[in-house]
Amino acid sequence: MKAYRAALLRFDDHGQPLYDSDGLLVVGPDASGRRVVRAAGSHDALIDRFAGVAVEDLRGYLIAPGFVDLHVHYPQTDVIGAPAAGLLPWLENYTFPHESRFADKAYARGVADFFFDELARHGVTTALTFATSHTASVDAAFEAAQARGLRFITGKVLQDRHSPDGVRDLTEQSLVDTEDLIRRWHGVDRLGYAITPRFAPTSTDEQLRGAGELAARYSDVWIQSHVAENRDEVRWVAELYPQARSYLGVYGDFGLLRERAVYAHCIHLDAHDRVLMRETGAVAAVSPTSNLFLGSGFFDYAAADAAGMRYGLASDVGGGTSFSPFHTMLAAYYVGREGHTKPGLSLTPGQLWWQHTAGAAQALGLAGVVGNLTPGHEADFVVLNPKATPLLARKTAQADSLDELLFALIVLGDDRLVARVHTA
Ligand code: GUN
Ligand code: ZN
Repeated sequence: MKAYRAALLRFDDHGQPLYDSDGLLVVGPDASGRRVVRAAGSHDALIDRFAGVAVEDLRGYLIAPGFVDLHVHYPQTDVIGAPAAGLLPWLENYTFPHESRFADKAYARGVADFFFDELARHGVTTALTFATSHTASVDAAFEAAQARGLRFITGKVLQDRHSPDGVRDLTEQSLVDTEDLIRRWHGVDRLGYAITPRFAPTSTDEQLRGAGELAARYSDVWIQSHVAENRDEVRWVAELYPQARSYLGVYGDFGLLRERAVYAHCIHLDAHDRVLMRETGAVAAVSPTSNLFLGSGFFDYAAADAAGMRYGLASDVGGGTSFSPFHTMLAAYYVGREGHTKPGLSLTPGQLWWQHTAGAAQALGLAGVVGNLTPGHEADFVVLNPKATPLLARKTAQADSLDELLFALIVLGDDRLVARVHTA
């Protein structure tokens, strides 16, 4: 066992932040040998129980759960910052040509290694990520994550139409490959598989149907896709699926809405769609830097809450502009202000932080596993240095409340805040 003495942030079952200015985090192996949180709370209340356990003194630092990125594309690491008029020209001119390189496993592994280094530098310990349509890109990412001992989920992109040579796959083979990858990787160490239709316009009915059949057969496998991100995309889906009630409804018709189904964006949904999300247990990956960069629109937090639909935060790199959870939380705060008319804050700093840790884990169906530091959670955590820059040091020293402290970190923070990352 090992203990760490520092300020300590975690969340209760209602998503409220719990904070100890002088805290103790005790980690040790569980019955299967994995490092988990054994105790977390105030130093003075816990220390007697753990007399004899080595304590590392990290006073002056803040320990918090490792961040969970609910939607990111590792093969788009080098696509960040590609300017385009909107989603569809961005895909055609930058993203598809770039992704075609991931047929080469050695190339994919090089990018995957860089990607995981970058996640660690930014304090992200779990990600649900797209690979590309090439099985080599999936193997490369799983092998890199396995070598690092990460809890990590990815899948082969399914896209058998309206896609250029180099990324377009073959309907039957794509489903055979998906099932083979599920069998080889899902549940190995801390890894999980996600059935990954890119989005409705780039899959035939047969491919979506096959994906839905696999999702029914392998019920604890994840599903990830995109929905209702951009108005031109929504119009295109309406032309392709005139019989569907809505864009989201297309996924429902093919059996792709259920628990553990994560849909990026969910900007242009209607009230009926939001109820469908809640009723099926599907969740939204809110990607504010991407939505602002590509001009897609603003996630409607108030409508999502009113419908009881679940969501968490995501970078959506390379549509998104940063791997930093601090940048994503700040962008989410800006987005939450749009159209906010009630008294009080649109989103509190505690809510923003929860959406990128325990809330994102809950959306993945991994509540109690990662994203929090109450006992039993896998010991994925970050050590943050509130004095990382002169301005952070000055601002955090003047914080009179937890809200003020967390807001200072969210508004001024980036990778410089992350002094260390520990994974279970
Ligand atoms: N819709 C379909 N593919 C993509 C993608 O790669 N990024 C984003 N942001 N939206 C998509
Ligand atoms: Zn995406």
